[in-house]
Amino acid sequence: MLYVPLLCMNKKIVVSGIRSTGDLHLGNYFGAIQNYLTMQEDYQCYFFIADYHSLTTHPDASLLRPNVYKVLAEYLACGLDPNKVVLFAQSDMVQIPELYLLLNTLSYVGELEKVPTFKEKVRSNPDNVNAALLTYPVLMAADILIHRADFVPVGKDQEQHLEMARNFAGRFNNRYGCNLFPEPQVFRSRQDTIKIMSLDGEGKMSKSENINATIYLNDTDEVIRKKIMKAKTDQGPTEPNTPMPDYIQNLFTLLKASGSEAYSHFLDHYNGCTIRYGDMKKQLTEDLIRFINPIRTQADEIRNNAPLMQKVLREGAEKAMPSANQTIKEARRAMGINYYS
Ligand code: ADP
Ligand code: TRP
Repeated sequence: MLYVPLLCMNKKIVVSGIRSTGDLHLGNYFGAIQNYLTMQEDYQCYFFIADYHSLTTHPDASLLRPNVYKVLAEYLACGLDPNKVVLFAQSDMVQIPELYLLLNTLSYVGELEKVPTFKEKVRSNPDNVNAALLTYPVLMAADILIHRADFVPVGKDQEQHLEMARNFAGRFNNRYGCNLFPEPQVFRSRQDTIKIMSLDGEGKMSKSENINATIYLNDTDEVIRKKIMKAKTDQGPTEPNTPMPDYIQNLFTLLKASGSEAYSHFLDHYNGCTIRYGDMKKQLTEDLIRFINPIRTQADEIRNNAPLMQKVLREGAEKAMPSANQTIKEARRAMGINYYS
């Protein structure tokens, strides 16, 4: 029999997931994974691969498996430790679709249609406005509430989804006169939630859009160099202490996030109007290579080890099961769905 360690009962609960829609990038790392790494030490963490969510925009089922393995290998290579956190695939939790259905009865088409991420997907992909895209925030709420999370580490782009999860939790408690679901809060680290923009200044870094202006955790040194060299800049400020345009601010954000010692050096030059973006890009390239190279090497190794990945997912699903079962049991009890006793 598999040994399933007892989960720690008195730690606060954390849930978060990343869609399996391609390779992870710096936005995923600095927006989400960096927080996961901090939290794995002190919280009861459930981190998963949101493969059902990926189907809302990436319907090619033949890519499901490789994409799930990609995210898992990169999770592990970044330092998530399956002995400290519960790591699983969303589709292994049959309790999630059940809670999703229950929460769907508490969500309104009008409010779902107003969600900016939905509107944006309708605009960018008018041929695939499927119902699961509309109810994306409900499925996300089910992911979170199934483990009755206290905290959810996500990037800024997900804050509205989290607010909806809080609303659904409150509505369930009210409607069924119970106190089953806590209202999950965004986890904030010391710094505020971060958004990494695409290097061309158009939107955010993303797994499947703006790929030439997104730095992936599996980019080679050469690719990183080329992408940074092409990053959007301008002539530089002409007045001291000029506010930074977004795309310049983004380069500074990356420099700081990658742990560069040269951050304040370039900031001083910016404020003093003596900045040379070419030098700054060279420095940023070196810092990012130093940061990404070991992750890429390790992820490649893990990806070639299918038995390891399968073991992690199988054990993760087993460890996540008891908490999900308990929530469904209590939700059914609160609603009176128990016809045999
Ligand atoms: P993507 O949009 O690249 O497909 P996901 O939607 O799966 O990524 O997001 C996974 C996590 O990474 C979420 O917590 C999200 O907030 C965070 N994230 C994604 N892109 C960025 C970004 N550019 N900057 C900051 N955080 C991001
Ligand atoms: N919607 C999230 C994103 O696009 C991914 C996600 C799915 C998630 N379920 C979640 C994040 C539950 C946190 C908690 O980034």
